[in-house]
Amino acid sequence: MAVLQIARMGHPVLVRGAEPVVDPCAPAVRRLVADMVDTLGQEQGVGLAAPQVFVPLRVVIFFVPAGRGGEAVPLTTLVNPVIEPLSDDREDAFEGCLSLPGLMGLVGRYLHIRYRGFGLDGKLIEREAHDFHARVVQHECDHLDGILYPMRMADLTTLGFTDEIRARFAARRHDDEDKEAPAA
Ligand code: NI
Repeated sequence: MAVLQIARMGHPVLVRGAEPVVDPCAPAVRRLVADMVDTLGQEQGVGLAAPQVFVPLRVVIFFVPAGRGGEAVPLTTLVNPVIEPLSDDREDAFEGCLSLPGLMGLVGRYLHIRYRGFGLDGKLIEREAHDFHARVVQHECDHLDGILYPMRMADLTTLGFTDEIRARFAARRHDDEDKEAPAA
């Protein structure tokens, strides 16, 4: 296992899209995920997609920490994930990304989704997700399609360096504290 280097916005691996994994149970996929878990822990993020470690495959990992306003979700690996919105309801919240270190921005996401993907044991994982859980999964799966969160932003004036944005939106952040997403 190893901590991997993270691709930063501007590198082509982040925008070209990722290929489906042929065999989710392959040892190489297990090794990749082990390294991604180490990397996520080192970076103290909540999610990571394989293209962010220069591997253009459809693999994401994420978890939802306790105290995010919904249920905590243990560290989950999804191979070849698919997302389906279950409602048109969307919400704006701040997001960060390990590929855009030091930045954050306000991003609209679906509030209620269903997602499916394969675990490393080859079994289908199918869940409904709300709120922060739904947001993290949408953010990570976007990476597989070459989409970084600024590409989802309706108002680029809310994109900025974390300390500046926090100072500017202090009132909002106070109201909305549990919705602000850490880097993913
Ligand atoms: Ni990200």
